[in-house]
Amino acid sequence: MNFKEELKNRTAYAEQIIRNYLPKEEGFSVKMAEAVNYSMLSGGKRLRPVFMYEVYKLFGGRGNVVEPFMAALEMIHTHSLIHDDLPALDNDPYRRGRKTTHVVYGESAAILAGDALLNYAYETAFQAFDRTDSWKPVADALKILGEKTGIMGMLGGQGVDVENDGKPLSREMLLYIYENKTSALIECAMMIGAVLAGADKEQVAVMEQIGSRIGIAFQIQDDILDVIGDSEELGKAVGSDEKNHKTTYVTLEGLEKAGEKVKILTEEAIDLLAKLPGEQEFFRELLCSLCTRRK
Ligand code: IPE
Ligand code: IPE
Ligand code: MG
Ligand code: MG
Ligand code: MG
Repeated sequence: MNFKEELKNRTAYAEQIIRNYLPKEEGFSVKMAEAVNYSMLSGGKRLRPVFMYEVYKLFGGRGNVVEPFMAALEMIHTHSLIHDDLPALDNDPYRRGRKTTHVVYGESAAILAGDALLNYAYETAFQAFDRTDSWKPVADALKILGEKTGIMGMLGGQGVDVENDGKPLSREMLLYIYENKTSALIECAMMIGAVLAGADKEQVAVMEQIGSRIGIAFQIQDDILDVIGDSEELGKAVGSDEKNHKTTYVTLEGLEKAGEKVKILTEEAIDLLAKLPGEQEFFRELLCSLCTRRK
């Protein structure tokens, strides 16, 4: 099977898992469940659950304890996007090829849908305890989920990002923002996949380093696409960063250097991957493909 077909299959698998865990649209809170499902089902790339499953398999993971975590992480990611698009943050009208949640359901409903999704992610992840008798890896995975998502992770990065709109940023601060707003969730995906499969501490630390590099490269590529991408293909508006007067890797270093940095970081990640056991061909190709992604 070639890489494209393989990716399609793995994305479809992640998609199915995500769908299995979505809230039912019923009762008095039906509108909230609808808003949650609207944003969850609008067709993201599902990269984080694909990463998680890939790493789980890399370390010989079997069974389905990873599945609630795959869905949970995509929920947290989607919550971050609903809130990222709000008028108070990036104020963007399109996401994943559709109108954003606040445009369709109103701002207050979108804020609450984001909150609901963040909480529902943990309700979902806790279901992993029902799928295994060994609670320790599940507890370790929950700790990673909480830490990488919160104030010392994605939310911390988003906070510093938003509070610096329109301000010049040092390279150091910019990298802090990228490491947290974007890398943290990718590290989280890879580390949880490793922990649930029984990887040792050193191996989990290598996955964190790989996630860090891939995450920063992913955000730089996102910044590049915000300048030279096609909004139709991306499923979101281009020019968002300029509109919000953001300092990005592209404004600091220029497009060419930014593109080179994406390649360097990806090569570093692939070198780190070579230290690990397991069948890596698809994973390596996936990481490489992100360097030239158009969406
Ligand atoms: C968008 O993430 C937010 C960033 C971290 C740049 P993705 O590009 O993975 O978004 P979806 O999930 O495919 O919509
Ligand atoms: C957001 O970065 C990262 C998140 C944690 C949501 P961006 O603001 O650049 O993401 P996009 O371009 O809106 O997807
Ligand atoms: Mg943003
Ligand atoms: Mg944004
Ligand atoms: Mg962006």
